[in-house]
Amino acid sequence: EGQWVLMATGRSPTNIAVIKYWGKRDEALILPVNDSISVTLDPDHLSATTTVAVSPSFPSDRMWLNGKEISLSGGRFQSCLREIRKRAQNVEDEKKGIRIKKEDWGKLHVHIASYNNFPTAAGLASSAAGLACFVFTLGKLMNVKEDCGELSSIARQGSGSACRSIYGGFVKWCMGKNNDGSDSIAVQLADETHWNDLVIIIAVVSSKQKETSSTSGMRDSVETSPLLQYRAQTVVPERVLKMEEAIKSRNFESFARLTCADSNQFHAVCLDTSPPIFYMNDTSHRIISLVEKWNQSEGTPQVAYTFDAGPNAVLIAPNRKNATLLLQKLLYYFPPQDNDLRSYMVGDKSILSD
Ligand code: PMV
Repeated sequence: EGQWVLMATGRSPTNIAVIKYWGKRDEALILPVNDSISVTLDPDHLSATTTVAVSPSFPSDRMWLNGKEISLSGGRFQSCLREIRKRAQNVEDEKKGIRIKKEDWGKLHVHIASYNNFPTAAGLASSAAGLACFVFTLGKLMNVKEDCGELSSIARQGSGSACRSIYGGFVKWCMGKNNDGSDSIAVQLADETHWNDLVIIIAVVSSKQKETSSTSGMRDSVETSPLLQYRAQTVVPERVLKMEEAIKSRNFESFARLTCADSNQFHAVCLDTSPPIFYMNDTSHRIISLVEKWNQSEGTPQVAYTFDAGPNAVLIAPNRKNATLLLQKLLYYFPPQDNDLRSYMVGDKSILSD
């Protein structure tokens, strides 16, 4: 028998939550305490590209990230591999004369190579894109027939936010009610053409790795923050309905108010955690002030901001005019020679510096 290799390649963008996921009710299955809503970025900017290969000559499963070998032994990679392998189907490649029966997948090993098209050290969420791409591409290679909802539920077990990167456009992760996670899946609210005018700018405040991982931060918040309970039970359910309506009707004013309020409440939960978690820094706070002052002086939101588990600002403008004004303000208040802020323009070809 010849030594053959069969390969598949896929690409997934990262996503930015506008209603945040923070807190698990089940750590092993990654089941959240509330629904969340995100926007998936355009794949030309922040995305992962993954190639998966299978060959009878591979003695073990191995993975490389940006050319460097990383361990696949973590529970999350193993969950995703196991769930995809379980669903593997017969594969035939007539040209290469390869036939893999579905019962043979358990004996074959895979090699996985993944690249991020953005600086990995930039402290920008890369696990969402990476794990979504891992699951999607393995599924392609193994001829998995399950729909995107089912794939999202597998990606969720790799990294919670990854389930939302299975779709483009606006996506909701429904927390679900079941204990087995079968209904904790992502659904698409609107596709990537729905709200084309939006421009997303990511202001890279610090390229250091975050100090508190989202896993341990969430655990501490669930155990100690009274605000988290209130947020999950009372605030988010209502906010999710309003956000769905704002997205459907492309109501930027409502979208921006909800996005900023939710980012601020997420960081308030972090401060309400014992010991407190500080993800934003002085530069993040200055960016919030800049946007709040601008929005107040115009009487209506000109730009929305949101921050994840780190100091970098994600800024969402309703159109190119406001995106341009925002960049002017950022460059004025944070001159590039300060070197404490680099701006990337996402949703457009230009990258400002770096
Ligand atoms: O999926 P994780 O474990 O990387 O957690 C993501 C948490 C936030 O980015 C802060 C919020 C979110 O909904 O993406």
